[in-house]
Amino acid sequence: MATLTFIGHSTFTLQADDGAKLVIDPFLTDNPVTEVTPEDLEADFILVTHGHHDHVGDLIPLASQTGATIIASYEIASYMEQKHGCTVSPHHIGGGVSYPFGYVKMTSALHGGKLDLPGAEGFTTVPGAFLIDLGEGQRFYYAGDTGLSIEMQLLKGKVDVAALPIGDRFTMGPGDAVTAVEFIEPSVVIPFHYDTWPEIEQDVSAFVDAVGGLADVQVMQPGAVFEF
Ligand code: NI
Ligand code: MN
Repeated sequence: MATLTFIGHSTFTLQADDGAKLVIDPFLTDNPVTEVTPEDLEADFILVTHGHHDHVGDLIPLASQTGATIIASYEIASYMEQKHGCTVSPHHIGGGVSYPFGYVKMTSALHGGKLDLPGAEGFTTVPGAFLIDLGEGQRFYYAGDTGLSIEMQLLKGKVDVAALPIGDRFTMGPGDAVTAVEFIEPSVVIPFHYDTWPEIEQDVSAFVDAVGGLADVQVMQPGAVFEF
């Protein structure tokens, strides 16, 4: 069983069958919906979709505390290697790498590229998403921050569990997220990136109704665990 924990807003942890611990987009200290601190988390790998503060706010302390390998775009990986001495595994859009726990492919996202980290001038990148294949029935797609894109149709048949942003304003809203579900056809959908601040408040029950029979919607409160 893969164990997925929703920390809150953009941040998830994922433990694979082999025990590998992944943290996705660590945002803790300034995250109003969680009390979790970097010291509370273990990580063998930290996956980063893009450089906005609500995805990398605790990247540097978590990386230094855990010694985890950073899986990110070439630019973010280079920044973490050159500025912070981290072990990194650079990717770019469309490229995958086999890790002991599974295969990770970086896929496209429609979003901004600023890297909100000290001394990061020159490391600006394009944002991404991750398709994390932990095995049969354990193919997890973390969309990161993105608008709806036609490229999501390429994921059809390749995703068991999809985490999709629904907050609107900075990412897809609920309506476009339903279209993303139609494109991707996952078994399970997990909405995130909403209700953290007033600007991205959403009626998640309306989203659940709108998805209807297309997929099973798992509404995870911060701290909730889902196994698949
Ligand atoms: Ni963002
Ligand atoms: Mn965000």
